[in-house]
Amino acid sequence: MNIVEVHDLYKEYGKGETSVKAINHISFHVEKGEFLAIVGTSGSGKSTLLNLTGGLDRANGGKIIINGREITGMTGDALTVFRRENIGFIFQEFNLVTHLDVKKNILLPMKLAKKKFDKQFFQLITTSLGLEDKLDRYPSQLSGGQQQRVAIARALYSKPAIILADEPTGSVTLVQHYPKEIPVILFSLSILISLITDRHSVRFSSRVSVS
Ligand SMILES: Nc1ncnc2c1ncn2[C@@H]1O[C@H](COP(=O)(O)OP(=O)(O)O)[C@@H](O)[C@H]1O
Ligand SMILES: [Mg+2]
Repeated sequence: MNIVEVHDLYKEYGKGETSVKAINHISFHVEKGEFLAIVGTSGSGKSTLLNLTGGLDRANGGKIIINGREITGMTGDALTVFRRENIGFIFQEFNLVTHLDVKKNILLPMKLAKKKFDKQFFQLITTSLGLEDKLDRYPSQLSGGQQQRVAIARALYSKPAIILADEPTGSVTLVQHYPKEIPVILFSLSILISLITDRHSVRFSSRVSVS
């Protein structure tokens, strides 16, 4: 089963002579359970592709189907709900809320979605990621690698159909321990799309596309 299908995707920034064709008619698919890394130089369009695939930005053309639902064409509200329930993001700059502690950061998206606290799953994730003794710390009290693990825990906690990670190589330690620290099978994650430039990470991918 394809968890992600992208057909003839096109994205242009600006208009006329100064416009930038960031995504120029790209098609690909990702099967359930697949780890995919998309590799390319700076400015080649990786973040744009991540934002479009995750429904954070709109394409100028083409079709995106996630978990059997076409997201291109969804209204803003429908897309927001779909995103919250199906897509986990790990951003390059982590996007943690500075005035919330680690526990509240991890729980925030599901709290906004009015989902019940799943204590057992929360403990499983935070222990697997070595965060169990950091739960009352604030992001500013954590190292970059620890902050990234919080962002990963937050993405995993919502049990998304896919996880999109933009250059998740900020912490070399984490990359080295990726397969162990993120128990993909344990959490039945469908895929991890890893949009990276660092070649060290590529070996964890089942399929690699070089732009
Ligand atoms: N919001 C934007 N407005 C205009 N141009 C943009 C915008 N975002 C990205 N671009 C341009 O689109 C191209 C792809 O950028 P990006 O997707 O950020 O690449 P990458 O993540 O691979 O470094 C670049 O030429 C960049 O300058
Ligand atoms: Mg980028």
